[in-house]
Amino acid sequence: MRFALVSLFLQLNLVSAAYWKFSTDKLGLFVQEYPSVNANPPDFADDYLGLLKRSYETDQIHDPTSSTAEWDRFAYYVQHLNQISGSSEQYKVLYLGRHGEGYHNIAPKLFDQECFRCYWQTQEGSGNITWADASLTLTGVQQAERARDFWTTATDMDKIPAPEKFYSSSLARCLQTSNITFAGLPALGSKKIIVDERIREIMDGCSCNWRRAKSELQPLFPLHSYPADMPEQDAMYKPGMSESEQAFTVRVTDFLNSVWQSSETYVSVTAHAGTIHAILRIAGHPNPNFPMATGQVIPILVKGSKVEGARPVVNAAGPTPLRACQRSCGPSKLRR
Ligand SMILES: *[C@@H]1O[C@H](CO)[C@@H](O)[C@H](O)[C@H]1NC(C)=O
Ligand SMILES: *[C@@H]1O[C@H](CO)[C@@H](O)[C@H](O)[C@H]1NC(C)=O
Repeated sequence: MRFALVSLFLQLNLVSAAYWKFSTDKLGLFVQEYPSVNANPPDFADDYLGLLKRSYETDQIHDPTSSTAEWDRFAYYVQHLNQISGSSEQYKVLYLGRHGEGYHNIAPKLFDQECFRCYWQTQEGSGNITWADASLTLTGVQQAERARDFWTTATDMDKIPAPEKFYSSSLARCLQTSNITFAGLPALGSKKIIVDERIREIMDGCSCNWRRAKSELQPLFPLHSYPADMPEQDAMYKPGMSESEQAFTVRVTDFLNSVWQSSETYVSVTAHAGTIHAILRIAGHPNPNFPMATGQVIPILVKGSKVEGARPVVNAAGPTPLRACQRSCGPSKLRR
């Protein structure tokens, strides 16, 4: 018995004493890699997610006459990369989707910018608009429906590999977007969309980044699975405070480490502009500032390299209070 416990301890120790580092070492794949497109970013649905027309070193064995779809040849190449990599290297294709337009996206336009930042964003809403844990606007719903239509034909006709695993931020706008986009997609089948709190937006003081109670979300979004340790009430949003970039980067890096714990190659992530930009930075993407409009999707090919030992601890700065308003910002400043 004692022996068994000791060996269990050793095993646990071995399992936890490794982590993943991320890089982007295969380039020239997607149009979004080039900062020159940022002024006029391509739409994911118009051009096969931005995959460039090119040849791959695996074409000779797979498709010498280049007769198959671009994505089919890309997918063969990715499979090949994973076959020749050792077990400590694994490539994954992440489909990073931003939620559709939410009420918090239109709210700033109704106010003076400074007043929105220091005062209004901390409120639940104003007049007939609520942005606390913002819901999708009608436009946002339509954007999600467009993503749904895209995936329905993409995987079927254009040979774009369907996601094998689905993640979503726990904020309502992402739950709504991932629900509309993937409900009924054959690739989802009886799988659940995995809710992960680590891919929530950076806490910048906006009440739009607060989330409602778990027990309120569960019956609304039954296609999702909720982690057992996700608290009933939001424990991440701190009124009047903003999270440090470092702390944000640490939690998003934790998330990516979890993604690399399992073997799926094609992974869908429904999240926020800030989260997607953090993933691009952590992954070493050449164009980490690619503009992510609401409802847009960017694909990336990321290499994870397993590193033995404990992940270095980052002593991230804690949250700091929002900068106070420099002048009076109240209902009288409403700009309508
Ligand atoms: C809020 O009210 C204004 C003015 O009546 C209207 O123009 C706007 O469409 C309403 N917005 C929503 C989200 O209902
Ligand atoms: C989830 O998506 C389905 C299919 O589009 C839709 O009927 C349902 O209303 C959605 N649920 C929510 C809470 O948005």
